[in-house]
Amino acid sequence: RWRSSLPQLDSADRSDEESGGEIDWDNLGFGLTPTDYMYVMRCSLEDGVFSRGELSRYGNIELSPSSGVINYGQGLFEGLKAYRTANQQGYMLFRPEENARRMQHGAERMCMPSPSVEQFVHAVKQTVLANRRWVPPQGKGALYIRPLLIGSGPILGLAPAPEYMFLIYAAPVGTYFKEGLAPINLVVEDSLHRAMPGGTGGVKTITNYAPVLKAQMDAKSKGFTDVLYLDAVHKTYLEEASSCNLFIVKDGVVATPATVGTILPGITRKSVIELARDRGYQVEERLVSIDDLIGADEVFCTGTAVVVAPVSSVTYQGHRYEFRTGQDTLSQTLHTTLTSIQMGLAEDKKGWTVAI
Ligand code: COI
Repeated sequence: RWRSSLPQLDSADRSDEESGGEIDWDNLGFGLTPTDYMYVMRCSLEDGVFSRGELSRYGNIELSPSSGVINYGQGLFEGLKAYRTANQQGYMLFRPEENARRMQHGAERMCMPSPSVEQFVHAVKQTVLANRRWVPPQGKGALYIRPLLIGSGPILGLAPAPEYMFLIYAAPVGTYFKEGLAPINLVVEDSLHRAMPGGTGGVKTITNYAPVLKAQMDAKSKGFTDVLYLDAVHKTYLEEASSCNLFIVKDGVVATPATVGTILPGITRKSVIELARDRGYQVEERLVSIDDLIGADEVFCTGTAVVVAPVSSVTYQGHRYEFRTGQDTLSQTLHTTLTSIQMGLAEDKKGWTVAI
């Protein structure tokens, strides 16, 4: 059925239609490999309802220089992954309705209309099927799916844009950090902040990300993997890393910063909380102070791109604190449990996966 809605591939593309072309599946990082198709759906502010979307060849989009997204940052993004099943024939999505709902919530905050959950999930499925030759073989990675919702219409005075574009593109990815599955080293940033009370830290707006680049680049130049941000008011409580949520484990009790508006409500975060509770762990969503972190036995990060990443050290004000990693850690158990469900290797008792 999906074939009928696909634009024609030109002959150069058709030759490797069923494979990922020249791609080296064994060395996928988180770089951008352009794929074949993107999905686009449009809506005017006046209508407030997205009309039927369609697939088109992946490529540049045309935007007015005065579009809301370019001038005022009116935009949201999402991230989810499709895994190839063990028999290599099918594809699995993980909780795509959660991404759809998070986008709706963010759209409300950013004064944008948003696709319905059904439209969102349908568009994701179409995008995966159209780009299925780019879904890595099982065990090598996933197809990362990037939905965007942007104020595409022109506007000069500060106001919601008159038109909106929902767009999805996808790219095959492996591990997010250059360390691969190895533990990462974080540094606490105590002058630049990611979010503030009343701001947009709790929704996935595009404007949450460029402002952390400076701290991230600085940290990378010093050999750290990523940055941990502190709350902007007390400068005492940990919030999250640039691209993922934070967990600590102390004496068998798990804690993660509560989603109080400055923390991105991660879908991996939410899933990991449930999986840890299922294993009998007490999981607290609360304020997590620097002292809590320093005293922890184990620290790890979670995110769609990151999955579950063990943290071997955190540096704060020049002091390096080290944590347990490797065999018999909770992060390792959670990584295995989660990815087994995502890839269809373990029974999905919670109904989290969506087969395509
Ligand atoms: C994701 O994990 O999907 C994200 O959105 C983080 C992004 C910075 C790669």
